[in-house]
Amino acid sequence: MQNQTNSTPKDKPVTDNEVVVDINHISKSFGAKDVLKDINLKLKRGENVVVLGKSGQGKSVTIQCIVGLLTPDNGTVKVFGDDVSRMNEVELKELRTKVGFLFQSGALYDSMTVRDNLEFPLTRILKITDQAELDKRVEEALDGVGLLDAIDKLPSDLSGGMRKRAGLARTMIVRPEIMLYDEPTTGLDPITSREISELILSMQKKYKTSSIIITHDMECAKITADRVVIMNEGTYIAEGSFDELKRSDDKLVKSFFNVTT
Ligand SMILES: Nc1ncnc2c1ncn2[C@@H]1O[C@H](COP(=O)(O)OP(=O)(O)O)[C@@H](O)[C@H]1O
Ligand SMILES: [Mg+2]
Repeated sequence: MQNQTNSTPKDKPVTDNEVVVDINHISKSFGAKDVLKDINLKLKRGENVVVLGKSGQGKSVTIQCIVGLLTPDNGTVKVFGDDVSRMNEVELKELRTKVGFLFQSGALYDSMTVRDNLEFPLTRILKITDQAELDKRVEEALDGVGLLDAIDKLPSDLSGGMRKRAGLARTMIVRPEIMLYDEPTTGLDPITSREISELILSMQKKYKTSSIIITHDMECAKITADRVVIMNEGTYIAEGSFDELKRSDDKLVKSFFNVTT
């Protein structure tokens, strides 16, 4: 891995325990379906929080509320202290340069090579035009995820794990201060899942990123989490370190751990 030549501009001073995402009593319904009933979550700077929950519990809806793709019916979501639901289009765009998200698919452009996929956010978001600078940053980012050899390949030539790495490199290349991972290991074999989980951890350490990682992969939670919250039926039912929750007597909490551990 090479040295980083740029640093993320910070608008606000870094303080210990600074809350970068503050979800305060949000609820969200779709028609008659109450998906989120009362969700509270604080993400501190530099922390990896894992959200565990069965499917259809509103985990992805929560993530979409953080970046303003959905608006909660009640409650507030603050990112770096600013209420997302009060942001205008310009402010939302600015927010999304600081908050990177990695969706399940990896979301690479199929017709573009890996190099072009990574150049895209650099030209579009950071407005970098110097080709030498673009090359340098793309190579650095790919080197960071062990994919330098695949730079001229198309996504269709990559394995699922490699696509995920490329997607991660593309999201991280603009150095977001916050990362949202939606089921980052789903659909991958156990060894590749472990590699992706370790990569998420190394990204956190290297860039001091604060992350919310949504998963039902207990191995991923174990590797990446500083703190775990468990979501069920629209509320958070438990919170603690992985080992604390593993020892819980609560039946529902136990059910998550009993599957694989
Ligand atoms: N934009 C939407 N419109 C209507 N219903 C939605 C929308 N997004 C999610 N839902 C519903 O909300 C529930 C929770 O979805 P989701 O957050 O995707 O669950 P998960 O915890 O698996 O990520 C599901 O029943 C889903 O159908
Ligand atoms: Mg989901």
